[in-house]
Amino acid sequence: MAVGVNGKKRIFTIRTKQTTYQMMADAHGALLHLYYGPRAEGEMDYLLTYYDRGFSGNPGDVGNERSYSLDVLPQEYPQTGTGDYRSPALTVEGADGYTGCDLRYQGYTLGKGMPALPGLPAVYADGAEAETLTVRLADESRGIAVDLLYGVLPGLDIITRSAVIRNTGTEELRVKKALAASLDLHGDRYDVISFYGRHGMERNVQRAPLGHGEFRIGSRRGTSSHEYNPLLILADRETTETAGFCCAMEFVYSGGFNASAETDQYNSTRMQMGLAEHLLDYPLAPGEAFTVPQVIMTASGDGFGTLSQNLMDCVRSHVCRGKYRDALRPVLLNSWEACYFDFNGEKLRELAKNAAGLGVDLLVLDDGWFGSRCDDNRALGDWTVNETKLGGPLTDLIRDVHAEGLKFGIWFEPEMVSEESLLFRTHPDWALTAPDGRAVRGRNQLVLDFSRPEVVDGIYEQTARIVDQGVDYLKWDYNRSIADVFTRGGHDQGRVLYDYILGLYCFLERLHTEYPDLLIEGCSGGGGRFDAGMLYYTPQIWCSDNTDAIDRIRIQYGTSFGYPVSAVGAHVSAVPNEQCGRVTSLAVRGLVAMAGTFGYELDPARLTEEEKAEIRQQISDRNRCASLIAEGRYFRLTDPFRDPVAAWCFVSRDGTQALVCAVTLEAHCNSPVSYIRIRGLQEGAVYENAADSRRYPADGLMNAGLPVPLEMGEYRAYRWELHLV
Ligand code: GLA
Repeated sequence: MAVGVNGKKRIFTIRTKQTTYQMMADAHGALLHLYYGPRAEGEMDYLLTYYDRGFSGNPGDVGNERSYSLDVLPQEYPQTGTGDYRSPALTVEGADGYTGCDLRYQGYTLGKGMPALPGLPAVYADGAEAETLTVRLADESRGIAVDLLYGVLPGLDIITRSAVIRNTGTEELRVKKALAASLDLHGDRYDVISFYGRHGMERNVQRAPLGHGEFRIGSRRGTSSHEYNPLLILADRETTETAGFCCAMEFVYSGGFNASAETDQYNSTRMQMGLAEHLLDYPLAPGEAFTVPQVIMTASGDGFGTLSQNLMDCVRSHVCRGKYRDALRPVLLNSWEACYFDFNGEKLRELAKNAAGLGVDLLVLDDGWFGSRCDDNRALGDWTVNETKLGGPLTDLIRDVHAEGLKFGIWFEPEMVSEESLLFRTHPDWALTAPDGRAVRGRNQLVLDFSRPEVVDGIYEQTARIVDQGVDYLKWDYNRSIADVFTRGGHDQGRVLYDYILGLYCFLERLHTEYPDLLIEGCSGGGGRFDAGMLYYTPQIWCSDNTDAIDRIRIQYGTSFGYPVSAVGAHVSAVPNEQCGRVTSLAVRGLVAMAGTFGYELDPARLTEEEKAEIRQQISDRNRCASLIAEGRYFRLTDPFRDPVAAWCFVSRDGTQALVCAVTLEAHCNSPVSYIRIRGLQEGAVYENAADSRRYPADGLMNAGLPVPLEMGEYRAYRWELHLV
């Protein structure tokens, strides 16, 4: 049993393989947090301390107990108006305008499997692997009940949290703030690790000491965003890749979010994650429920490596779904950097032929195939094939691509509309614009109001008509942020951003159900919506519009803290790189793209014969290593933001094979040699490198390292394919 309950003391203990999570409903019915960290036996209510603290109020029903204050006690789900002045997880406004709420313990239930959340993505697992604990809290006089849902995957050291807020009263409530998880840790001296960025440079890693004052990230963009990823890690100051305490929260949601950490006045630390408060004002009629999307939590006593592997395993096997969760992903060639908008039917057939000659599996026709889309200023929303440009019907093109032995993929941006489009002329009210029609434009386009089911249905029908023509892969793009939050659908304005995401998920769920063989790749100007919510519907996401191998090393490094390699869309593109002008060898570009789904984003017609031969070899190398890469354990071996060499490795689950990859980032005269310490090998074993049959003792590789050759020039790529002897 992963969940243990001491009914008398009302202590709930969740045990996973390596971690323990404990909470207690105290004598007053407040649900207090006791412990989250490396596996610990026993009950830890001794951690609660009670002192009379000035200006920390005492709940009305505790009488003269001046040492009892929710401002000081560690809580599971703090609410506004209880005398806890730290950041609340829940704020609900009643019809009388009062926003206070005092939730007390009502009871609990235990169940098998993970909790399912209506209309929302969530970690899934069957009853043999997972358990759910539901703790029911309520403020009866305010007519508010909250179910806290704890899903437990003991084997993966994963605990999920979410909350269902119910209106049990007789008047409308409005949800103003709703977080999925709040965690009060005893003590301070933590570092906070977050993943910030911008278009083309996502998920840089920032580690900063947490002090007094709130550290807060989030998105008000209506999507998870390039700016901050919905992933936050708290760690001891000394924690490294291989040692020390750390814990993480990762949001299974693609809309706006809030994540924060703060050391309070008594040096305790609160970490939180959930929905963005920005423009959230969700009406709840009597009897209605509001579900807060899920947060995945994990903790490790062995540093960031284990923490990331827990998250990677969870996302890969319990968030991603469908045929392609486990299937080998096709090597694709995408037309975007190959020819942008400048193509016709003939060019596409030539791309297909040349791609087939290289060993590519899938041709993706990117932007520009529909309506009057000759550039990025028009035609979004008109998902009808431009047969003049394609030189005939799409079915003919698909037939010819299939005849080359390739699968066929196509680009969509379903949530958008251009003002210059048939759709906008017919349904101007479908776009999110201000009441007077004013709108903020992004990439010269508007966002469709996906909080309206008729809009979602309208675009779904157009999309399905295209997919029905034999499409094997769909790239789902999203190229701006939401600014004008105003619906003309007749529903409450306070629902728009949340219902928008429900509309998006509803569309994606329909595609997932009706086209089980369709591979969908998510995208939002690259990795602007790279989150576990999208990964529930799209098992891979284009990681960044930046295809420069050296920038990509850092982007993929940051991404690896929370997401599996199988989710990372990564391609080899031409040089000089079209985003930053850097020149790197094909070997470097190939090695970096191999730490992802792998593909090409270039025109093979412009390659020399030598380059073509190298690419054929690259594809065969990738295919040989593909299952090791997708299913093996991934280890970060250096920090490419600081170290002169970027290195990472994949080790098969049984430890018999490893692929070690390194790229030099600097070149100096008379350099010292870098030794990269491999991880995850079988202790005491000997491994042989496939290329030169050289043998290495595993303990030497793990403790002393592998010397990276010193050669002239920066950006040199090295690869060791190791097999157990
Ligand atoms: C976005 C995507 C690119 C490409 C273009 C097409 O920027 O991230 O990969 O699909 O749109 O317009």
